[in-house]
Amino acid sequence: MTHAHFKPLLAVLRGERQPRPPLWLMRQAGRYLPEYRALRAEKGGFLDLVYDSEAAAEVTLQPLRRFAFDGSILFSDILIVPHALGQHLEFRVGEGPHLSPRLADAALEDLAPVLERFDPVYDTVRRVKAQLTPGTTFLGFAGSPWTVATYMVNGEGSRDQAAARRMAYGDPVRFGALIDAIVTTSIDYLSGQIAAGVDAVQLFDSWAGSLSPAQFDDWVIAPNRAIIDGLRARHPDVPIIGFPKGAGGKLAAYAAGTGVDAIGLDETVDPDWAARELPADLPVQGNLDPLALIVGGSQLESAARSIISAFEGRPHIFNLGHGILPDTPIAHVEQLVAIVRGA
Ligand code: CP3
Repeated sequence: MTHAHFKPLLAVLRGERQPRPPLWLMRQAGRYLPEYRALRAEKGGFLDLVYDSEAAAEVTLQPLRRFAFDGSILFSDILIVPHALGQHLEFRVGEGPHLSPRLADAALEDLAPVLERFDPVYDTVRRVKAQLTPGTTFLGFAGSPWTVATYMVNGEGSRDQAAARRMAYGDPVRFGALIDAIVTTSIDYLSGQIAAGVDAVQLFDSWAGSLSPAQFDDWVIAPNRAIIDGLRARHPDVPIIGFPKGAGGKLAAYAAGTGVDAIGLDETVDPDWAARELPADLPVQGNLDPLALIVGGSQLESAARSIISAFEGRPHIFNLGHGILPDTPIAHVEQLVAIVRGA
């Protein structure tokens, strides 16, 4: 192997403590950046950006030119997997995603993966990889099966994920087949990202908080574990971050049950509680409230510092508890970088 450049974020994912936490922000490529808005307007819509590898690579790199982030996340979306599974995908401005046919009303038999759909994304990975500074950790990602299924079943986002929860109770065999299809395709998709050059991957389970305990075991822990086992068999050295948003009191069970290498915490998790309840050697990622970043000033400073001190002495990656919001001032991101760098 050639001499590998030291990557602090990757080192933390491998369990090493660092003198200051490495930093990246979920959704760091996006609408709070004027250069993102300009390129999206030029290219048409969000999906046009995702499938245009040159544009997607540019968008991935935009935040890194402005901020000294330790991590870069591939610009794509979790709904690329349902698109490859044959659903029609559309992002209407101001409305969020639409998938059709809605699986609450349509059969699953048509769900045959078209893996070539992923080729432009792998091309994006190769383009970014060629331009990334060597100390930056490159992260790939996919949605976790439960969260992806909530969109596939309902055809769009929902407040309570009721359509998917209803199918999970009412027809667990059919729902299990859907989850299995997402697991299999996600293993292929993440393996492809790894083969193209990402250093680590994150599994986004944005709606993990909407399930009862037994359902959480079946639809969050088991499928994430299946993806992790499948990936480890092919790529044993690539760390996997799990982000079960809203899991709360089930976080420790999630970590133990899935075998993730690191766990992402949303902003509702008390860092002192997490530091006590989660295994001391498990790297944690998080968990600044995105609203504190919008407010900035002394509120941002004290919120960031209390997270840093709660996780002092354990492997910690600084991040938000959820994606950065479009109305976040760029000056506040700069302020956050200075706080975390100086810590
Ligand atoms: O973090 C990053 O910078 C990488 C890119 C990324 C996007 N989406 C780009 C995006 C990642 C990691 C995601 C994950 C994602 N996508 C999740 C899980 C994380 C979360 O936020 O809970 C979910 C649930 C989705 C599905 C999705 N994509 C929704 C519901 C929406 C519409 C809501 C919104 O924020 O506009 C999207 C669109 C989307 N994905 C945008 C971006 C930059 C905004 C598109 C635009 O208008 O330019």
